[in-house]
Amino acid sequence: MDYKNGHFLLGGAINPLKLVEKYGSPLYVYEADIIERQYNRLKAAFQVEKLKISYACKALTNISVLKFIKQLGSTVDCVSIQEVQIAIRAGFEPVNILYTPSGVNFSEIEEAVGLGVRINLDNIPAIERFGETYPHIPICVRINPHIMAGGNLKTSVGHIDSKFGISYTQMPLVQGVLESTGMKLEGLHMHTGSDILNPEAFLAGADVLLNLAKEFPDLDYIDFGSGFKVPYKPNDLETNIEELGEKLSAKFNTFCAEYGRPLTMVFEPGKFLVSEAGSFLVTVNVVKHGATTVFAGVDSGLNHLIRPMFYDSYHRISNISNPEGKKQTYNVVGYICETDTFASNREIPEIAIGDVLCLHNAGAYCYSMSSNYNSRLRPAEVLIYQGKDYLIRERETIEDLLKHQIDVF
Ligand code: LLP
Repeated sequence: MDYKNGHFLLGGAINPLKLVEKYGSPLYVYEADIIERQYNRLKAAFQVEKLKISYACKALTNISVLKFIKQLGSTVDCVSIQEVQIAIRAGFEPVNILYTPSGVNFSEIEEAVGLGVRINLDNIPAIERFGETYPHIPICVRINPHIMAGGNLKTSVGHIDSKFGISYTQMPLVQGVLESTGMKLEGLHMHTGSDILNPEAFLAGADVLLNLAKEFPDLDYIDFGSGFKVPYKPNDLETNIEELGEKLSAKFNTFCAEYGRPLTMVFEPGKFLVSEAGSFLVTVNVVKHGATTVFAGVDSGLNHLIRPMFYDSYHRISNISNPEGKKQTYNVVGYICETDTFASNREIPEIAIGDVLCLHNAGAYCYSMSSNYNSRLRPAEVLIYQGKDYLIRERETIEDLLKHQIDVF
């Protein structure tokens, strides 16, 4: 189903094997078309007067990807001062950048203020200090709606015991700070997790936010976060964006009518925009017949794509050198000095040394969570845009690894 003419990138127009020949292996490849498709799909799902899609750039921070997403009309969500700096270099106006830190030193918040970006705070001491220091700058507050949602505990961030957000029950304290400092609240925000299948989790969170919003007259926007689940396998389930769009838009429009003016509805998708756009191409170094298992060992590992090892995530794997081969069962493993299994007991067309495998859904949280463990080099990244391939990050070299090391002997 992936393949047309033996290829799958751009619906069959580009042969990924040619990209590996040209740029080497392993290689991350992203398809701008798919990002655009996802962006347009999300925009179309919500029928409200003002809608903002604010790309959660932690998913994939390459500056060319940011620039592409910016020209689609997106704003951007950043969680560190470094992401803010990259977003500014990508050309985003500071007013179109929301900075949502967690547990940072106040000096980082001051730096973000200096850059002129919007500030989203999630703890009362920081809000108090912000109000005393910058009473004239309006803020957004991240709410913890006490909702358990998402694909796994590591990424479930809106439940009562989560470190994120201010419990909605503590909002009178925020109200007190606003009254005593004169600071305004321009936004309310939540983000409850990733891989959230059920629209009801978003709707329940929205109820909490909209109920609180009635108490704050100066709001400009309500940010419903993200966490939309994308399909990882053929026929896999995904968040029904269209159903969510219909139900949430109705709720939001009713709220705005009661509030007296239209607010902006904001979403900050990472995975939804870029996950399916990414393919990670790796080459098989070893086919090893163990006592009970056949291993296909590739020229990569948890240093390049950690999601299967960290979250037990499923990434579909195709053998693009032998797509029509007879299926066999493999453990696809990396070259790192720890157990780094990409897939267990997976049926894949017969694999030989030198074959190129593709790990699908490699756009979100793959390169951006990569490391130099085992002193391995990070791969190159390529963006396919309007039918052409562009190198958007060079493969690292040994010099990159040594660049900041200081030899004192
Ligand atoms: N907004 C905030 C404040 C977030 O913390 C996140 C993700 C997003 C938006 C975007 O969520 P998304 O649309 O991508 O689900 N590394 C994990 C996902 C962790 C996401 C952390 N925050 C993974 O690979 O599944």
